[in-house]
Amino acid sequence: MTPLRIAVIVGSTRQGRAGDRVAHWFVEQTKRHDDLTVTVVDLSDYDFPASYPAEPTASIRAFVGEVGRADAFVVVTPEYNHSFPAPLKQAIDYAYDEWQAKAVGFVSYGSRSTGRHAVDQLRTVFTALHAMTVRDVVGIDLLTGEPTARCADELRRDADALLDQLRWWGLALRDGRTARPYVS
Ligand SMILES: Cc1cc2nc3c(=O)[nH]c(=O)nc-3n(C[C@H](O)[C@H](O)[C@H](O)COP(=O)(O)O)c2cc1C
Repeated sequence: MTPLRIAVIVGSTRQGRAGDRVAHWFVEQTKRHDDLTVTVVDLSDYDFPASYPAEPTASIRAFVGEVGRADAFVVVTPEYNHSFPAPLKQAIDYAYDEWQAKAVGFVSYGSRSTGRHAVDQLRTVFTALHAMTVRDVVGIDLLTGEPTARCADELRRDADALLDQLRWWGLALRDGRTARPYVS
């Protein structure tokens, strides 16, 4: 069977971001699941325009291409003012059909919160895009629970649960898309 292709989207582009190390930790967890192929899609690598252009730029086409090639996604997102970062919304809105009938999971983090508000709002956005968000989230409070610290075992279990659900939905949806065109 062709391995499920997962794109890990790094949603913070902030200078000095924690997102780098959270995404790195999560990618390490995926290595226990050797039936998954993982690509990192780091939004800070894309030179997106300040205004939504009339025609897609090369950077937009490159990002949309990555979304189109993936079977499932893990969005690594911080919480900013009870939501998720603006550059992440900008990027999500560049694709549409490419998100459809695909599974989406979340690794969220914050300071004092575990990024719950960001995930709640992302679920709404991905529902509008006909994507299927999986139930379990890896939520990290950076003030008390860096993945490398004392809660490492718990977070490892959370990552496994997320990946198990993402695999189930990702394969089911890939089979479904192959069997018949999605109705949007
Ligand atoms: C503009 C801004 C707003 C924030 N709002 C929240 C918040 O609502 N809840 C929270 O738990 N942490 C909040 N934080 C803390 C961030 O989640 C924390 O700084 C995290 O490291 C940000 O991710 P990043 O470093 O990858 O950009 C905020 C940080 C920034 C910069």
